[in-house]
Amino acid sequence: LAGFIAGIAAAGKRATAPAPTTTVDVLFGTQTGNAEALADELVAGARARGLGGRATPLDAVTPEQLAAMSHVLVVTSTYGEGEMPDNAGLFWDAIQATTVPRLEGLQYAVLGLGDTSYDEFCQAGKLIDLRFEQLGATRVHDRVDCDVDFEDPAALWTAAVLDRLAAEAGAVPVAGAAPAGATGTGPAASATATGGAGAGRASRPGAQWNKRNPYPARLVENRLLSSPRSAKEIRHLEFDLGDSGIEYTAGDALAVVPHNDPVLVDRLLGHLGADGSEEFDGRQLAEVLRVDREIRTPSKDLVADLVQRAPASELAAVVAHGDKQELDRWLWGRDVLDLLEDAGPAAPSLDELLPNLRGLQARQYSISSSPAAHPGRVHLTTASVRYGDARRTHGGVASTYLADRVQADGEVGVYLQPNAAFGVPSEPGAPMVMIGPGTGVAPFRGFLHERAATGATGRNWLFFGDQHRDTDFVYEDELTALQEQGVLDRLDLAFSRDQAEKVYVQTRMAERAAELYAWLEEGAHVYVCGDASRMAKDVEAALLQVIRTGRGRGEDDAQAYLADLRRAKRYVRDVY
Ligand code: 2AM
Repeated sequence: LAGFIAGIAAAGKRATAPAPTTTVDVLFGTQTGNAEALADELVAGARARGLGGRATPLDAVTPEQLAAMSHVLVVTSTYGEGEMPDNAGLFWDAIQATTVPRLEGLQYAVLGLGDTSYDEFCQAGKLIDLRFEQLGATRVHDRVDCDVDFEDPAALWTAAVLDRLAAEAGAVPVAGAAPAGATGTGPAASATATGGAGAGRASRPGAQWNKRNPYPARLVENRLLSSPRSAKEIRHLEFDLGDSGIEYTAGDALAVVPHNDPVLVDRLLGHLGADGSEEFDGRQLAEVLRVDREIRTPSKDLVADLVQRAPASELAAVVAHGDKQELDRWLWGRDVLDLLEDAGPAAPSLDELLPNLRGLQARQYSISSSPAAHPGRVHLTTASVRYGDARRTHGGVASTYLADRVQADGEVGVYLQPNAAFGVPSEPGAPMVMIGPGTGVAPFRGFLHERAATGATGRNWLFFGDQHRDTDFVYEDELTALQEQGVLDRLDLAFSRDQAEKVYVQTRMAERAAELYAWLEEGAHVYVCGDASRMAKDVEAALLQVIRTGRGRGEDDAQAYLADLRRAKRYVRDVY
C-alpha cells in the first residue's frame, strides 16, 4: 500500500513539473563506495535542478551506449598505482579499442577522487578525461582532482557543473528540492548537511554520521585473537552502535576516526620547542596535533620542503634518484618526527611545519560481523601495526589507538562506509568462494555468520592462511563450529611458514583447481579480501589458471570468462 500511495504522489508531482529535456548520465568508478555516493548526489542535484539524471557503474556502459548519451559526468576513484577501480576496468579496456565509436555529440566533465600520497594521483580520472577528448567529446567543465578530503572540492564541482548544465538546458528547478551541492550552500555546509561520503543515501539510517560528524560508539570488546607468541597482533574489537541508527550489511566497512598517540605528540612538541598550550586556529596546539593532523606518515609537501631545506641529506639523495619505490622503501616506518630529527638545524619551525601536515584521515576496516547474527554491534578484526627502530617504538595510528588508547567502554568516532558490491549473493542458494588470508578473513566471518543466521542454503568455501597455524589461526573455534553446523562446506588453510617452502592461499587454489572450476560453473561468487599489492594479484593469476585449466581454451578465453564474472558481480574484491 505504501508503495502504491508513493506512486500516486510521484505521478502527481510529475504532472505539475515539466519533463526534463536533458538527461545527465552520471557514470561512476568506485572501489570503496565514495564515488558511488557522489554519483547518487549528482543525480539528486540534477533532478532538483529540473534535469533528468541516472547513475550507472562505468562497467555497465558499452562504447555504443556511451556514444548515444548527450551529457555525461564521470566520477571515478583510482585503485592502487594508477589503475582503474574494479567496476571501471572493463569500460576502460573497451574505450581503448580502435573501433570505438566517436563521441562528437557528447558533453562531459570528470571528477577524480584520489590520494596525493600516491604517485599516480587521480590517474583513472585523468585517463578517462583525456580519452573522451581524443574521441571528440566536448569538455563542459574542467576536471577536478580531489585529495582524500574530497568533500568540499567535490561539492563545489558538483554545484558548478550542474548549474551550468541546468542553465544551458533552460531547466526549471523542482520547487522545494534542496539539492546536494546547490548554489548558495557553502561547500563545507553542503558537505556536512548532505552527509559527506554517505550522501545520496541520506535516506539510509545512520547516514548522518560522517568524517566531520562521527558517531561516538562504545568499544565494548577488545581481545587478542592471535597468540602472544605470534609475530602479529590480531585483535577482535566490538562496538556498540547504540542509538546511532547505523544499519550495515555484511561486507561493509567501518571508518574509524583515530587520535594520534599523545606520547608521540609530546615528543614532536618537545622537538619543536613548544609545550602544546600555544594557540593555533583558536585551539590548543597539542590538541590540534593529537586529533587533526597526520603526524605519522610524512606528506609529499613535507618531503619536498625538507629536500629544499637540506639538499645534502640522505632523504634528498633518495628523492634525487627519482625512483618512487626506493623512496617508499626509505620512508617506510619513518614518521614526521624522524624526518625532522634527520634534518637537524635545517628542520622547519612549527609555523613552517603545520601547513605541510595533512589532515588526520579516518581509517576504514572491513566489518567482520553480520547484523543478522549480532544486532546493534559491529565487529572488527584488526592487525596492530607496531615496530621499533634504534630510536624508539612506532605504531600505526588507528590500530594502536584502538588496541591501546581507547578505555574499555570508551567512545570512538565511527561512521559507516557502505560497500554495496561486496556482500553475500542475493540468491541464498548461490555458492560462495571466499579468499582471505590474514585480516582479509574479516568480511568472510561476517558472510558466514550472515548465511548461518538467515539459513541461506548455498555452499561456502573459505581459503584462509597466515604465517603459523599454531599462533595465527584466528577464529579457529568459530570456523570449526561453522563446519560442524554445515555452514562452512570447505576450509582450505595455507600456513606459509609451517614448512620449508611457502604455501599461500593460491597454492591451495591450484591444488583444488578442478573442484574450484566446478563451483564457478555452478554459479559461485568469488570474493577476495586483503593485501592488494601482492596477494590479490597472485590470487587473480591463480584464478585465471584455474579457469584456463578447467576450460582448456587458452589465456584469452580465461580472461574473457573472468571478465564475465566481474560484470556479473561474481568476482569482487575488497583489497587495500
Ligand atoms: P608470508 O608472510 O609468510 O610470506 C597473511 O599475511 C599471509 O599472507 C601470510 O601467510 C603471508 O605469508 C601471506 N602472503 C604473503 N605474500 C603473499 C602473496 N603474494 N600471496 C598470498 N599470500 C601471501
